[in-house]
Amino acid sequence: VAGGCLSVVILGASGDLAKKKTFPAIFNLYKQGFLPNDQLQIFGYARSKMTSTELHNRLRGYAQPMKSSCILYFLLQVTYISGPYDEESGYVKLNEQISSAEESKCGTTCSTRRLFYLALPPSIYPIVSTMVRKHCMNPRGWSRVIVEKPFGKDLTSAEALSSELGKLFTEEQLYRIDHYLGKEIVQNLLVMRFANRFFVPLWNRDNIANIQIVFKEDFGTEGRGGYFDEYGIIRDIIQNHLLQVLCLVAMEKPVMLTPEHVRDEKVKVLRAVQPICDEDVVLGQYEGYKDDPTVPKDSSTPTFASIILRIKNERWDGVPFVMKAGKALDSRKAEIRVQFKDVPGDIFNCKKQGRNEFVMRLQPSEAMYMKLTVKQPGLEMKATQSELDLSYQQRYQDVVIPEAYERLILDTIRGDQQHFVRRDELRVAWEIFTPLLHRIDEGKLKVSPYKQGSRGPKEADELLNVKADYVRTEGYIWIPPSLK
Ligand code: BG6
Repeated sequence: VAGGCLSVVILGASGDLAKKKTFPAIFNLYKQGFLPNDQLQIFGYARSKMTSTELHNRLRGYAQPMKSSCILYFLLQVTYISGPYDEESGYVKLNEQISSAEESKCGTTCSTRRLFYLALPPSIYPIVSTMVRKHCMNPRGWSRVIVEKPFGKDLTSAEALSSELGKLFTEEQLYRIDHYLGKEIVQNLLVMRFANRFFVPLWNRDNIANIQIVFKEDFGTEGRGGYFDEYGIIRDIIQNHLLQVLCLVAMEKPVMLTPEHVRDEKVKVLRAVQPICDEDVVLGQYEGYKDDPTVPKDSSTPTFASIILRIKNERWDGVPFVMKAGKALDSRKAEIRVQFKDVPGDIFNCKKQGRNEFVMRLQPSEAMYMKLTVKQPGLEMKATQSELDLSYQQRYQDVVIPEAYERLILDTIRGDQQHFVRRDELRVAWEIFTPLLHRIDEGKLKVSPYKQGSRGPKEADELLNVKADYVRTEGYIWIPPSLK
């Protein structure tokens, strides 16, 4: 791998995110030869007192991908440094260690690369970034910084954070990660939409009745109640992950596939999203949420939300986009469901069969399938629902689908910002949701209870049918071929 010595610095190395996502992703890249393995060093920095060996044991014992023979070699590159987040001394030491490792691996003249991954609570972003900027920047090549959500709690706090970071790093150095942009099917959206004649003429208000972007988890907040309660499902999932997906579903074709052209189109479609009205929102909280000791007993934080977004432009005027997300529901899945309008002059009684749908299943079991009406095989002339199914496990049996974090970390090393959120994009995303979030925070919207393991509050199904013109196909269930 060309490019010189690479140092990856994970700040917050003892935390959950680092352990579950960041380190395993870097290890997978290492294992597959995407990193300059003999010119690589990885530093974990955090407050916890522990040795490098203790960190190694933690990482080794943690995730599946860590169980491999090359883990030993990988861990040899991982050094742990313990230090406070708010004192200069820790960062001076960190910088000394990075520089001396660079020197021993590639001398004093080659160019080097430094990637800082902030796997930290947002409250300490500003201080950590200030210290990194002051003490650890690379004098011999690029420095890049990956930051994780939450990027603020509303427009004002997000803008304050953006301008603090903006004073320290240029936009080219900042990589705001939204891991949904690294998912295989999400990355396929632009190809599907713009490389297929099947879709090009149909993808608009003339043919599409409604679009749903859905995230469901079949477990609750599980030990993250304290964090979650401060944010709620809209800030945790909808304002970022689902809205990013909406951009790719709804945006116009970019002039070219460069990061700036793609992100220009995303910002443009976000600007056409209309203010959200309360009648287009259903909120819920699962029963038992407040039993979590870290959640206040009187919390009304939504763990479920279904929100209709309306895009006022030539392509989408009148098409409801339903963004639905919830915890402790009946299943775990994330998908985009595009429902087409009824066929005019219906001679087969198609209405009874249900409408055409194009579904992109992000997870689990990545797939794309088209629900369509066909003749029931046999002697009778009878119409029935079936599907054209592209299930990845079946079609791409030998392909390992990379984890979102792997892909995005590799993009950062390559300097490709296409799948990262630009500052102006983040601003518009907050502009869309902030008024609603403030009304919710002030207790102005009803939060309905729902049973764990259910479909969520029944009002959400009513919203879909009544306000989003969604027609549910009764009796039809798509079963991934892997489970058949
Ligand atoms: C995170 C949220 O960003 O995404 C979590 O904070 C959520 O609440 C997670 O569980 C879901 O990610 P994935 O990739 O499992 O869908």
